[in-house]
Amino acid sequence: MRRAHGLAVCAAALAAALVAGTAGAQRKAGSPASGAAPRAGAAASAGATPTGAAVYAQRFAGLCAACHGANGRSAIPGTPVLAGQHSFYAITQLFLFREGRRSNEAMTAVAKTLSNDDLRGFSDFIDTLPPVAPPSPATPSDAARMSKGQALARQHKCLFCHGEDLAGGAQVPRIGGQHEDYLRDSLRGFKSGQRPGYTQAMSEAVSQIPVEDLDTLAYFAARASTGGGAIGSASAPRASAPAR
Ligand code: HEC
Ligand code: HEC
Repeated sequence: MRRAHGLAVCAAALAAALVAGTAGAQRKAGSPASGAAPRAGAAASAGATPTGAAVYAQRFAGLCAACHGANGRSAIPGTPVLAGQHSFYAITQLFLFREGRRSNEAMTAVAKTLSNDDLRGFSDFIDTLPPVAPPSPATPSDAARMSKGQALARQHKCLFCHGEDLAGGAQVPRIGGQHEDYLRDSLRGFKSGQRPGYTQAMSEAVSQIPVEDLDTLAYFAARASTGGGAIGSASAPRASAPAR
């Protein structure tokens, strides 16, 4: 754990240096709570380098879309939805994959081929992808499990950092509407230490939570948007409420 912390801090410093100066990184520093503040809007990133942006849109279609979906909403189990994630969060994760801190065979192989400019270019492109509502579930949500999940999310401050609508913020990922299996594996990974975070926020958040409650949280977050919440109302994709 102590070692992982050192690595995370090192990664944080390097990734912060990488994103410095990019249009999407105005809000790169600050507490987790400030990270969940409303986003500046896609307009800020869109204006920066039109040529570069077009290049990465094209490269995303060729390199990433097969797994993550052309609109950033993957249909493949275990493969996260990228639509609606902030560039700051995306670049930290790409960096962790490239440096072998976060490991996944497929993603590590892809990330190893990317330059610093690529990390920034792909992350800024991801930032422009509006959130996409998940398809309607085949079976209705279990109401008791949903309210248990919501209570756990409040009790353990998930809502405080990830936002009441689970839409995340600059360095805090959107988790509402994410694939359940991916959420479950991520939460278990933070708890076991298998997935080191960019900061210690998640390992601390889940360390005292039993695995069965983590699974309930994953169930809740994956379906939270289908109850008519703000997630998926793509007209104002970045206008999430402050996490308070
Ligand atoms: C072969 C399939 C595959 C390809 C191709 C691929 N990815 Fe991934 N990606 C994954 C999987 C699987 C994960 C989740 C890994 C894990 O569970 O740790 C992931 C995770 C990510 C994450 C972290 C998401 C999060 O919520 O933490 C980002 C960002 C990402 N990929 C971006 C990209 C980009 C950009 C490309 C193209 C340059 C790309 N991926 C190509 C399969 C793929
Ligand atoms: C102190 C703020 C904070 C709290 C509390 C918190 N999170 Fe997080 N969460 C983060 C940050 C920051 C990340 C980015 C992970 C990293 O450091 O690489 C994250 C990442 C995640 C991820 C991975 C998402 C992805 O796309 O890979 C999941 C799932 C998640 N959190 C769920 C939760 C749940 C459920 C709770 C409540 C038990 C919770 N979080 C509590 C800040 C927080």
